[in-house]
Amino acid sequence: MKKGETYKKIFVLIVSLGIVLTIFLILSHNAINLEHTSIWSRQQAQGFKFTKENTAPNINPNFKLVVPNLWVWDTWTLLKRNGSLAVVDGYKVIFALTAPRNVDWNKRHDVAVISYFCSKNGKDWMYKGPAYNIEDALGSRQWAGSAMLDENGRVQFFYTATGRKGEAVRTFEQRLVKTTFSINGDKNGVHISNWSKHQVILEPDGVYYQTMQQAKGPIIYSFRDPYFFEDPKTGKDYLLFEGNKGGKNVKIKPENIGDKLFLKNHTVPQGAENFNGNIGIAVAENKDLTKFKLLPPLLEAVGVNQQLERPEVVVKENKYYLFIISHRFTYAPGLNGPDGLYGFLGNSLRSNYKPLNKNGLVITNPANDPYQTYSWYLVSGHDVISFINEYHVNGQLRYGGTFAPTLQISLNGDKSKIMEEFGEGVINYSY
Ligand code: FRU
Repeated sequence: MKKGETYKKIFVLIVSLGIVLTIFLILSHNAINLEHTSIWSRQQAQGFKFTKENTAPNINPNFKLVVPNLWVWDTWTLLKRNGSLAVVDGYKVIFALTAPRNVDWNKRHDVAVISYFCSKNGKDWMYKGPAYNIEDALGSRQWAGSAMLDENGRVQFFYTATGRKGEAVRTFEQRLVKTTFSINGDKNGVHISNWSKHQVILEPDGVYYQTMQQAKGPIIYSFRDPYFFEDPKTGKDYLLFEGNKGGKNVKIKPENIGDKLFLKNHTVPQGAENFNGNIGIAVAENKDLTKFKLLPPLLEAVGVNQQLERPEVVVKENKYYLFIISHRFTYAPGLNGPDGLYGFLGNSLRSNYKPLNKNGLVITNPANDPYQTYSWYLVSGHDVISFINEYHVNGQLRYGGTFAPTLQISLNGDKSKIMEEFGEGVINYSY
């Protein structure tokens, strides 16, 4: 063989190897991305300030109760598959957790059911009763979820079954459950009928997501608040939910704390590892949405916060905004954040999410009444509904248990701002 030809062969071989290696690197890089869990670190979850942009006005104590004999709290809208607001025979439809008002305020979680409401104008909500036959529902009580009106006009209804039916003592076991039902409107409002059997669709695996047996620390674990989301980029269907990190002994990694410089001067108090909330995700394996597979969390707050509640996604101008709600008392020792709506910005559903406004805080209560509202839920990417929680009149503590005034926010890149306040429970359907 001539020398020239040998060199040529070697050259071709090297180029081919290079191509194979590049393809391998690209594939393996993507594989890592598919597993990537973003981190909300102790370093990021600092420096919370009350500003015009993030602080709700004090509520006017002369509000009306939406249902006089019920506590009403976590609320969500009936959505279409693409996340836009659904209207059924001229009616807007929402769901909310409810409990009799004669039950102690703090005991309402023990007897919660999901009720539905309808409205022609998105302002005056008519209470229609529980969204299912209570005997058919799983759990000793039902906690938050989501509702999607599918192409056949059936509602795909996801909720949290907490505890077990008939249990003598309330346990905190949480499972994600699904039923479907028909919904129709007439002159008396909308009616729900023809339910499918309620079925457990997801339970924690103990690896990505903590089980009740693995839970430690002072605050209950979570595996709740399923939120349906179809990714417009891929057409895949998902459930997001509130979880905690799985495993017997959760460890705080350096990345959960912060960068090298921060690590040098920051001591993590003992017990912080028992505050390990995450935003869980499962992918649908069939179009009927009855089979889901757990995936690694989208974001974790290990050593930061125990509860990243009621996760939601908003896609705006090709950007993905993740939102959760959280409490002051669920922050890990050594951190000090307020009750609030928190947001994170990424380039795709699974990406490297960065907290909005540096630390994540989007909406909080005024400093003189830090618990006045809670359970903020974004509608159409800018109207934020919530409920009136614990507030004060002349220094006296009162409980709300009804819709709070709606706040409109603007999202501009990684910045957010409260723009306007509307009436209690107002949902703008004109977007
Ligand atoms: C948020 C929340 C949800 C749960 C419900 C129980 O307010 O803690 O995570 O589903 O309340 O009442």
